[in-house]
Amino acid sequence: MAQGPTNSHQALLRNRQYLEGRLLVLGLQDPDLLAGLPAGGLAMSEHQGVCQQARQMAPSSWQVAFGYNDPALQTARADTVVVFLPKARQELDLRLALARAALVDGGKVLVIGEKREGIAGAVKQLRSLDGAAVKLDSARHCQVWQARPAPAPFSLEEWLRWHRVEVAGTAVEVAGLPGIFSDGHLDEGTRLLLEALAARPLPGPVLDFACGAGTIGAWLAGHHGDNFLVDGIDVQAQAVFCARQTYQRQGVAGAIIAADGLPPDLGRYAAVVTNPPFHTGVRTDASMTTQFLQQVSRHLTASGELVLVANRFLPYPELIQSRFRAFEVLAEDSRFRVYRASGPRH
Ligand SMILES: C[S@@+](CC[C@H](N)C(=O)[O-])C[C@H]1O[C@@H](n2cnc3c(N)ncnc32)[C@H](O)[C@@H]1O
Repeated sequence: MAQGPTNSHQALLRNRQYLEGRLLVLGLQDPDLLAGLPAGGLAMSEHQGVCQQARQMAPSSWQVAFGYNDPALQTARADTVVVFLPKARQELDLRLALARAALVDGGKVLVIGEKREGIAGAVKQLRSLDGAAVKLDSARHCQVWQARPAPAPFSLEEWLRWHRVEVAGTAVEVAGLPGIFSDGHLDEGTRLLLEALAARPLPGPVLDFACGAGTIGAWLAGHHGDNFLVDGIDVQAQAVFCARQTYQRQGVAGAIIAADGLPPDLGRYAAVVTNPPFHTGVRTDASMTTQFLQQVSRHLTASGELVLVANRFLPYPELIQSRFRAFEVLAEDSRFRVYRASGPRH
């Protein structure tokens, strides 16, 4: 969900005099920002919850795009593109490439980010596109930079890359994009989870909550064979795009759903498996997973089971035990534990 006014959004509002003509905003975090801008345009967020909120509350002069391949972006033309600094440095390259594709000749890009988010490094990335980039302001721990890079075409497919994951004799090809979780390698928590599932197969159909690039679902389908169905949910546009690519390459049966948490109209599964999120930005934040654990029973059959991997220090066991009749630790190492619970209390 939206996190309230960020420093970078406030730094943009201080500098709204530089916003000319039709606007494109890349990396919206707080939908409230749009009402404070001088003109309308198109705003992109890679977070499904932010997009949903922005669609409900933004002024009608604003259109909202979910992620880097939303069809609205293909025809977008902007005189000013605002680029908020993403967490991952390579995702900034992706945002700048998208900005260039939407820029009209002579248009400008404003890059805004906090010092602790790495604005100094971002300036180098910006200067590689326009050596004459200038700093317009420093405020709210942020810097605001302006550049006029040359327009260039953009295709998200060209940013895709693949890596191979093999666990317990089952191998899958996994898609990656800048900004996605565990890009280019298998996360150690996910590895422990898959090893545990190799020894203790799941009943289907399965939901992979917080599916990222679709590693778990593709591996489960490969391991079980015979059209084993694994649906996936993720909030991040790159994850949804990559998971669909991963499933397609492996011929996995299952839908990848873009959602912020568990949508209320989701059906019931024989098993839910997850390596859930525990960060908001750079801070540890277990609230998203706590909410998931409070709601997951509704989406399990009476004999359904939950398998969850998490850092050992995270306080999930008590909550899981309060929601399920049976509970065990399936596997553990020095950093992670795999919990299995069954018999949801509906
Ligand atoms: C720890 S990663 C696990 C990814 C994948 N399952 C794996 O093992 O490689 C957690 C994932 O949760 C997603 N996520 C974060 N908040 C979410 C939310 N509110 N609803 C759904 N997914 C969320 C992130 O985008 C990220 O892909």
